[in-house]
Amino acid sequence: MTLDEMKRAAARAAIAYVPDNCIVGVGTGSTANHFIDALAEIKGRIDGAVASSEASAARLKSHGIPVYDLNAIDRLPVYVDGADEINHYLHAIKGGGAALTREKIVAAVAEQFVCIADYTKRVETLGRFPLPVEVIPMARSHVARELVQLGGRPVYREGVLTDNGNVILDVHGMSIVEPGKLEGEINQIVGVVTNGLFARRRADVLLLGTEHGVETYR
Ligand code: A5P
Repeated sequence: MTLDEMKRAAARAAIAYVPDNCIVGVGTGSTANHFIDALAEIKGRIDGAVASSEASAARLKSHGIPVYDLNAIDRLPVYVDGADEINHYLHAIKGGGAALTREKIVAAVAEQFVCIADYTKRVETLGRFPLPVEVIPMARSHVARELVQLGGRPVYREGVLTDNGNVILDVHGMSIVEPGKLEGEINQIVGVVTNGLFARRRADVLLLGTEHGVETYR
């Protein structure tokens, strides 16, 4: 089985977490794309979706699934999204696709966050994958210096602007043993919009695609 087939299997398993007649929170990335395609097959039993990126909104619309503004809805039973790394506590690093801020907002609203990933994303300690930080453009150098003070090696993701018009610093070289603490510390730096640690709002369920099928962790 290829990694892509494992992602697809995890994405399809997430359909079981989608209640009837609800608006579904939808993430961003190659695994979330598989989920969108699976959602299209059951679109008759949902009311629509909220997307965490322009790219996902476009894919949902291409399937004829109505896309709502988050401000227009009052509850979101479930959010389904991938991850770049996820540990045993279901703390994750996200933002490889630069959609971290909208992902974090939709995840915060959702009653349940279902993470879908292939087995390579599961790690003992977060930090091998460089931690994305979304930054207001004029604060880029200031934030980079502060991240160095925290022990990281920030690298400007050149040529990338987020859906919110901001830039991304990818922080290398951090072994993240206290994800919730670091998440808060980075968010305190003036000029940071948010960072890709999902620890304070971790996943509730992980559906992990493996060679032996989809494993479920809570
Ligand atoms: C997007 O910004 C990310 O948070 C994605 O959820 C993450 O990069 C996982 O992407 P893949 O599903 O493509 O691996």
